[in-house]
Amino acid sequence: MAMIKLTGINKIYRTNEIETLALENVNLDVAKGEFVSIMGPSGCGKSTLLNIMGLLDAPSSGKIEINSTSVESMKDKELAAFRNKTLGFVFQSFHLINSLNVLDNVELPLLYRKMAAKERTRLAKEVLERVGLSHRMRHMPTQLSGGQCQRVAIARAIVGNPEIILADEPTGNLDSKMGAEVMELLHKLNKEDGRTIVMVTHNEEQAKQTSRTIRFFDGRQVQ
Ligand SMILES: Nc1ncnc2c1ncn2[C@@H]1O[C@H](COP(=O)(O)OP(=O)(O)OP(=O)(O)O)[C@@H](O)[C@H]1O
Ligand SMILES: [Mg+2]
Repeated sequence: MAMIKLTGINKIYRTNEIETLALENVNLDVAKGEFVSIMGPSGCGKSTLLNIMGLLDAPSSGKIEINSTSVESMKDKELAAFRNKTLGFVFQSFHLINSLNVLDNVELPLLYRKMAAKERTRLAKEVLERVGLSHRMRHMPTQLSGGQCQRVAIARAIVGNPEIILADEPTGNLDSKMGAEVMELLHKLNKEDGRTIVMVTHNEEQAKQTSRTIRFFDGRQVQ
């Protein structure tokens, strides 16, 4: 079953004078339980593709189906709820909220759902345990190492139990040891929980460990 299905996706960025064709006729299927890596030179459209898959940005044309649901006709509110339920995001620069402690950061996605505070905290503590950070719950993001920050971000991505995790260069800001920890965690989430993962990386070694690598050049798939 295709968990993510993109058909004929084009993305053109238009500013006053300049048009950039960031994606050109991208057709892509990601099966349930796959761990797909996306590679290609800087500016080839990897982040654009991930943002479109993650429903954070709309394509200029083309069709998106996530978990057999067509998203085109969804209104903003419905789309936001669907995204919250189905997709978890991990970014290169963590995107944690520095004024909130670790536990509150992880609870954030659950705030958008109607859920009792006690249940939110229980679930957040559970995923923090999973990423090995229960002992840092009351720390602020600035008091953590980069690898720990990324593990908090992963906890936040999975707290709502999404089927899909999208990660844009999740180890890009980490040294190799911390990067390896984060990769190990992502593989665990894929193998043990069966979550579908799409990860952008510049690291050939990491790509080799995934089920499949899709390569891009100038907005087009090359393999
Ligand atoms: N908001 C925007 N407005 C105009 N052009 C943009 C915008 N965002 C991205 N682009 C352009 O679209 C192309 C693809 O950008 P994208 O960020 O997807 O590349 P990338 O493959 O993720 O690169 P990197 O490896 O450096 O992160 C680039 O040429 C970029 O300049
Ligand atoms: Mg990018």
